[in-house]
Amino acid sequence: MISLRLPGVLAASLLAVSLPLYAAETAPDAAAAMQRSFEAKKQAGMDRLQQDEVQTLCTRYTTATLPAEAASRIQQASLATVKPPSDGQYLGDYKAGEKIAQTGTGLQSSDDPAKPNGGNCYACHQLASSELAYGTLGPSLQHYGKLRGQSPEMLALAWRKLYNAQADVPCSNMPRFGHQKILTEQQLKDVMAFLFDPASPVNQ
Ligand code: HEC
Repeated sequence: MISLRLPGVLAASLLAVSLPLYAAETAPDAAAAMQRSFEAKKQAGMDRLQQDEVQTLCTRYTTATLPAEAASRIQQASLATVKPPSDGQYLGDYKAGEKIAQTGTGLQSSDDPAKPNGGNCYACHQLASSELAYGTLGPSLQHYGKLRGQSPEMLALAWRKLYNAQADVPCSNMPRFGHQKILTEQQLKDVMAFLFDPASPVNQ
């Protein structure tokens, strides 16, 4: 710790000078640095750096500092993007859904755009008890359907979460799978079945 060896006054003045500069310069500098250092490659174009309104607000504020009006704007705008399944059926094939949850490829320049994208759910969630490797950024979804049942309200809530997580949790860290067209309608149904089907490994 270098600062411990500095005379107190000097350390304090360094802090006082460096903090405001840091706060004032970081955001535009970071945007400019990203513009300079990224290059368009195949399906990963420079448009990826353009934030929509939700992303702009969630970059400016943390969930703790997000003003109430901004939070409700995000929720309402996000809710308006959610399309229920066109045939009213929420549940597809849980086996296909498990593969989607396990697959972390898609949308990167090195990925084959002809192949379906994955949902990478295990990067953030515990799901099937048999899968030992999972991230903890999101809550555990172990026994999801077993614990919650399949009421129409529960199915609609989970669909909304997958379609656009911001509709219920402004500035959620979960990808907006339906809204951003990361997953297709059929893939969303398959992932829903993975969560809810009593035979799914999630519910064993
Ligand atoms: C980058 C991390 C991340 C990924 C990837 C991710 N999630 Fe999430 N998820 C979260 C976070 C954070 C929350 C809690 C905040 C919220 O509800 O939006 C959450 C919440 C949820 C919830 C609501 C939990 C509850 O208690 O009702 C469900 C269901 C869910 N995720 C399912 C999925 C599925 C299925 C996938 C894969 C298709 C997935 N998530 C991928 C981060 C992620």
